[in-house]
Amino acid sequence: MHVSILFFRNFLYLKIAAALAVVALLAYTIDEPLGKPNGGTWLGYTLGTIGALLILWLTWFGIRKRRYGKGKLLLEDWMSGHVYLGVALLVVATLHSGMQFGWNVHTLAYGLMTFVILSGLFGLYAYIRLPRLRTENRAGMTLDDVMGMIAGISKECYDVAARLDDEVGQLVQKADADTRVGGSFWRQLSGRDPNCATTHALDRVRELAEGFTGTDADAGRQLITLLARKVELLRRARRDVQLKALLDVWLYVHIPMTIALLAALFVHIVTVFLYW
Ligand code: HEM
Ligand code: HEM
Repeated sequence: MHVSILFFRNFLYLKIAAALAVVALLAYTIDEPLGKPNGGTWLGYTLGTIGALLILWLTWFGIRKRRYGKGKLLLEDWMSGHVYLGVALLVVATLHSGMQFGWNVHTLAYGLMTFVILSGLFGLYAYIRLPRLRTENRAGMTLDDVMGMIAGISKECYDVAARLDDEVGQLVQKADADTRVGGSFWRQLSGRDPNCATTHALDRVRELAEGFTGTDADAGRQLITLLARKVELLRRARRDVQLKALLDVWLYVHIPMTIALLAALFVHIVTVFLYW
């Protein structure tokens, strides 16, 4: 996805969404219902129906984006409309409720909807911003390139460590075998590894190198340079994995919350008709 979906067809969907929000606001301002404004007035029903239809349409996007082949609208139409009408929905649903919130299933539906919209805004930001941050972070390389360089440095470390004592050899071996990029979803999201074997090796070799003399001191310096370079590349690799995870994480909120919203909305509509 690209920032261009926001300008798509010369802001057509922004215009439609803004018109919808303005008309709803005007109607709400002009309308003088008996009692407080609420979902049960004629305007309340109208806005509620528009809101529910919007929610169904926004949900349909999940199905539409997986169906290839031609429809009348391009996927960009759907995406641009999804973003702008998704935000306009907040206005429509808020006016529909007459801001009569309480601890009930109606407000639950409203809360879930708000959650879906907020996660959508985050997703939009992520899709537009994160790919660039990823490319910058990898300095134009692919993640495979970075991992390849890390493996290359590990090999060089073995060669240099062979000239030094056993403890250094073990540290380098552990740094090679036990260093991880990625892992559990939370580890990926955190973008770091507090128990990184390479960082530990670097710190320890720095300490040991203070006692080195002669050719050992040269080898020690060489090893420190290599390990520091490896730590830096690992930092970039983990940051890349983190940015990739951020691109996915919001959909784990957006999609399940959409399903919960549909359920709450169904209960909301059934109960208002039952208890009317
Ligand atoms: C076909 C669609 C809808 C219909 C027929 C409908 C109907 C109603 C009715 C009759 C009320 C007044 C209830 C009362 O005064 O006790 C109401 C209130 C409300 N509706 Fe809807 N609604 C619809 C869609 C929506 C949507 C899409 C949302 C937001 C997700 C929503 C959220 C609310 C909220 C928060 C209230 C205020 C609750 C309260 O008064 O305590 N409704 N709705
Ligand atoms: C209540 C309102 C909304 C509902 C019910 C809704 C529902 C959905 C659904 C079902 C999908 C398809 C996800 C998939 O299957 O991969 C989706 C995708 C998406 N939504 Fe929403 N959405 C809403 C509001 C928003 C808003 C306000 C925004 C942004 C401002 C937004 C941004 C997105 C984005 C960026 C995608 C991903 C498109 C892709 O992966 O290609 N959504 N939404």
